[in-house]
Amino acid sequence: MQFEAILFDLDGVICYTDEYHYQAWKAVADEIGAPFDRTINNRLRGVSRMESLAIILEGYIGPELSEEERLRLAERKNSLYRVLLQQMQPSDLPENVRETLQRLRGTGIRMAIGSSSKNTPFILESIGLGDFFDAVADGNCITRSKPDPEVFLKAAEMLGVPAENCLVVEDAVSGAEAGHRAGMKVACLGDAAAHGAGDWNMKDIQELLEIVTEV
Ligand code: BG6
Ligand code: MG
Repeated sequence: MQFEAILFDLDGVICYTDEYHYQAWKAVADEIGAPFDRTINNRLRGVSRMESLAIILEGYIGPELSEEERLRLAERKNSLYRVLLQQMQPSDLPENVRETLQRLRGTGIRMAIGSSSKNTPFILESIGLGDFFDAVADGNCITRSKPDPEVFLKAAEMLGVPAENCLVVEDAVSGAEAGHRAGMKVACLGDAAAHGAGDWNMKDIQELLEIVTEV
């Protein structure tokens, strides 16, 4: 079977904004005295902003936070994150990613984004991919974040491609689960690959070219 479409996660797959998420959450966690490190950060991959905060607050010892205070913390994280995003430019699209996307374009395969992030349009624009993808499903058009399959089902629907003909590319364990729950095959990178969460666990995104031609 030949894949008709590839659905890419954004943060940690197309660009390294996952590091900016970490830095912004680390600043907020330090401000409230909640423990936060790279291991906890890996649990935030693919997970929505408010759910990420809930995970960080698991280690928080202090007075119960109202919904309003939680919203304020999430907004604080987002404004710190947005400051870091301001520095992004087309050169922040890694060369191996740019080359892979270009070569995949040559195969005629459809390509979409499936991300939990509400900042997706801004990031794609900043790195020069504003018009590249055939569809963009993101945090602005879903009600449940990964590991729920909603974002990938939405991306497949936008493309008009059956779920079983889609390949998901993910760096998050939650995202790999979302892809599988959508009935899709999953190729992993980074943390998800280290956990063996994919049908393929890659060291470099360039391996995608072999995967889509070998199946
Ligand atoms: C995902 C990230 O892509 O987007 C998560 O992996 C993040 O870490 C989520 O929490 C939501 O992002 P945003 O930009 O809407 O706060
Ligand atoms: Mg990711």
